[in-house]
Amino acid sequence: MPGLTAIVNALLVPVFDRLQPGASPGVRTSERADLQVDGALALARSLHRAPREVAEEIARQAWADGLEQVCLSVEVAGPGFLNLTLSDQFVAHALGAMATDDMLGAERAARPVKVVVDYASPNAAKQMHVGHLRSTIIGDCLVRLLGFVGHQVVRENHIGDWGTPFGMLIEHLVDIGEDKAAHELAVGDLELFYQQARSAYDSDPAFADRARARVVLLQSKDPETLRLWRLLVDQSVAYFDRELRRLGTCLTRDDVVGESSYEPLLPKVVEDLEALGLLVESEGARCVFPPGYSKRDGQPLPLIVQKSDGGYTYAATDLAALRDRVERLGAGLVVYVVGLPQAQHLGMVFAVARMAGWLPEGTEAVHVGFGNVLGPDGKMFQTRQGGTIKLADLIDEAVERAAAVIAGRSPGQERLGADELGEVARAVGIGAVKYADLSTDRSRDYRFDWGRMLAFDGNTGPYIQYAHARVCSIFQRAGQEMAGAPVAFGPLSEPEERLLARRLLGFGDAVAAAVDAYAPHKLCGYLFGLASAFTDFYEHCPVLRAPDEATRASRLALSGLCGRVLAKGLDLLGIEAPRRM
Ligand code: ARG
Repeated sequence: MPGLTAIVNALLVPVFDRLQPGASPGVRTSERADLQVDGALALARSLHRAPREVAEEIARQAWADGLEQVCLSVEVAGPGFLNLTLSDQFVAHALGAMATDDMLGAERAARPVKVVVDYASPNAAKQMHVGHLRSTIIGDCLVRLLGFVGHQVVRENHIGDWGTPFGMLIEHLVDIGEDKAAHELAVGDLELFYQQARSAYDSDPAFADRARARVVLLQSKDPETLRLWRLLVDQSVAYFDRELRRLGTCLTRDDVVGESSYEPLLPKVVEDLEALGLLVESEGARCVFPPGYSKRDGQPLPLIVQKSDGGYTYAATDLAALRDRVERLGAGLVVYVVGLPQAQHLGMVFAVARMAGWLPEGTEAVHVGFGNVLGPDGKMFQTRQGGTIKLADLIDEAVERAAAVIAGRSPGQERLGADELGEVARAVGIGAVKYADLSTDRSRDYRFDWGRMLAFDGNTGPYIQYAHARVCSIFQRAGQEMAGAPVAFGPLSEPEERLLARRLLGFGDAVAAAVDAYAPHKLCGYLFGLASAFTDFYEHCPVLRAPDEATRASRLALSGLCGRVLAKGLDLLGIEAPRRM
């Protein structure tokens, strides 16, 4: 079903076309009216006419052309916008169409493609830091959104499992013994493991020599070295997998495609760049100079693919991976959910891939970057000792704090019972962490603040989940299933009903906006507006004790649709929607 804006847009296109062929009406959802039309402003500018006058002419013509059938009124406002108030009848009709559509009014992608999403991507034998957590949460939401609108999504967890650090990591493993190492890695004491390896490397020259020799053995595929390397990687992946599962992400072990898997493809990357005449030798290293990238001093900036010692770089691996995704997997779009500090690196990788023909016309690579995670004090988010926060501890703390908040909202404990309280605390705690991350514009830094993210008021996970649980309780009291809610809407006489209806109808646009800009916060903002409208509706409009049967049925229909949209929205964010809280 086309969304509401699309229907009204279609009505306005002929009117705009008559004034100037191709002019766009620019219909959008608005806070002030049901819909706002912005297109008259741009049109007036190009016609060199007064904007309000053009807006009035459009309003008159559109009304005569059929807008009358869906609108109660159209008003010219401000410098020349049109504010549309839809007729109750049309709103009720649109709600009915939405309620019987399994996309809930969201539109499927016009051109579905295979999309590879590169996300999470922690480094083996090293603690996953909050940047990886952010990538995981945002990436998982994009995977769900892209899949929902009909793309074929391939998840890839591009873990760092190859390269020089493995020399020292393997030697450290040998020193402490396989059993002890396996245990430390399996329980997620990765930080300790990595730090000890690092400090041995820095302080003990003999260890450092062994580590370097080990790198050579690893590169030459010495079987015993490969066995030890496997152990390191497998134990860390098992730990990541367990915690990512607890976090509730789509990622599985099958999605792990580490840097090591591209190792066999690296020589060909360099050979082909050479054959294409793109490779330049600079101080023994082999690099490509993509146009448009320069150092501070204005000198061209190289993307180094092979170091002077023959070792391949992170960039070479990324080029091999991009090639593999396009050539072998057939991706039309590759999305990298990676922190903003890697923007230049990825930009250069994409540019070189284009130059080499590995990212042909019609295929696209996008860097979905994000800012830092800061502690409540505004500094980098770390443990009190200044170390990396352990993912398992973070999840435990989220669940514990959520349990305390819920139990504190008397009489939570008796109402839910211990088992259900545990389940709900898990959903609320983890949901709060995810929502806090997703609701911030990803390009900005975000402040990790337990108190704020677990609040039941404001733009938070618990607030949205609570609105959903309230809908569930209405249906429970009515002795009905939400899925079987009535789908006939109207009358919509109360302003709170009307506002809830308007917000509901915005779901499709919110999904489209979030997908188009890879911006989960747009979906969060929408859900917050919807949950607020529902809260007002719930306080002012009795549902089960409505004044008459028709109103009761309509309010039940509104509640049911709202519950479904909240649950779907939370699901797209990767957040659970408990039925009771
Ligand atoms: N492992 C890298 C890191 O921890 C992130 C990898 C991101 N993905 C990529 N294709 N480069 O920084």
